Amino acid sequence: MLVSQNQAEAAPQHAFDPLNDAEVARLRADFPILDQEVNGHPLVYLDSGATSQKPECVWEAEQHFYETANAAVHRGAHTLAVEATDRFEDARSAVARFVGAGEREIVWTSNATEALNLIAYSFSNATGGAGGPEAERFRLGPGDEIVATGMEHHANLIPWQELAARTGATFRWIPLTAAATLDMDAARQIVTERTRIVAFTHVSNVLGVVNDVAALVALGRSVGAYTVLDACQSAPHLPLNLRALGVDFAAFSGHKMLGPTGIGALYGRAELLDAMPPFLFGGSMITTVTMEKAEYLPAPQRFEAGTQRIAQAVGFGAAVGYLEEVGMERVADWEHRLGAAMVQGLDSLPGVRLLGPAADSGVERTGTVPFAVEGVHPHDVGQFLDSRGVAVRVGHHCAEPLHRFLGVSASTRASAYLYNTAADVDALLNAVSDVRGFFGVK
Ligand SMILES: Cc1ncc(COP(=O)(O)O)c(C=O)c1O
Repeated sequence: MLVSQNQAEAAPQHAFDPLNDAEVARLRADFPILDQEVNGHPLVYLDSGATSQKPECVWEAEQHFYETANAAVHRGAHTLAVEATDRFEDARSAVARFVGAGEREIVWTSNATEALNLIAYSFSNATGGAGGPEAERFRLGPGDEIVATGMEHHANLIPWQELAARTGATFRWIPLTAAATLDMDAARQIVTERTRIVAFTHVSNVLGVVNDVAALVALGRSVGAYTVLDACQSAPHLPLNLRALGVDFAAFSGHKMLGPTGIGALYGRAELLDAMPPFLFGGSMITTVTMEKAEYLPAPQRFEAGTQRIAQAVGFGAAVGYLEEVGMERVADWEHRLGAAMVQGLDSLPGVRLLGPAADSGVERTGTVPFAVEGVHPHDVGQFLDSRGVAVRVGHHCAEPLHRFLGVSASTRASAYLYNTAADVDALLNAVSDVRGFFGVK
């Protein structure tokens, strides 16, 4: 099964019944959108890396909230407001439990991008003097270094470049090896006593490669740096226990893990969140306000200014409940099998080149597989696959530097989730095998 070394330490391992075709067929009934034809073919949705489909229970939870409990949270003393607050906070507890965090350690955001920017802006505000003595530890300046990696999504890259530019710190990155994994020898040279932040993805959204979080956390800690985990492509697909992994911060998006759009989460160790200066200011995040100044609530409310995404949080809670019921070890195992079938199948097609680790590399990866069809632009590949009902992502997938490293400007990416089947993989492989013929490429 697919559980990384560091996950093995993080999550208790126990025997499980692997998912099978019959059970996945039953699960698929919870996703009515999958039961349709696209361009005269059954829809094969292999774009869950961009956004996942949602089971009925997710939008029913949102609808039920609107039908029975809609009100602003943490404000009015009336019955509906209390009920809305309870459901909002229950959802927080559910998401916190799902990722192995405490309730006060989960801050709602719009998505992972906002969560990562929240950290970066909070550090900027501390650098500008906000937050008083407690926030001194987040100050950055010339001589300090922020380290990311060469395989980051832009959401875990640009906020750090900009933070460096705002504070005078230096931005550096860990490069990739020829095998398209993180170069850990280089990492040991790049992360030094000057490093204040080490930001890295758990799973590459392009390559599906699973990084060694334990090693990166140990490296960051050895120099006293804060570690920031982009868990966007791991929280939906692998068992995750953020406290056990020991990261200081993490970010993930609801919409990639069966939840609604418009909701994501920032994880931060409670002690850090309480000391960090807020990023957005306004209602619902203060203790007292005078005409001169304001005092702020502890986390998570200090980071949740204004009226929140209440129904979306409730939907997110339902999504993680659904995943928990299926079991994340089983999800990871199922996707690993689909990913391996895609890797093997694509690798054996003439004129198709896998991008990233070679098929036989043994590198740990999820059900996300990037590839190139020789002589055909990825956009044309994507359109042809769509004509066969197969939905994949094309482009640079918000990871332009990684594509430059791979020597291509764009790629085609198939990404599986728990509702995909072996028949979906066959449909992908059949369609890809016809691409070159269709475009007349010899
Ligand atoms: C690895 C990774 N990080 C960050 C993001 C940004 O997520 P969002 O667009 O939901 O903020 C994505 C989305 O594709 C991603 O795959």
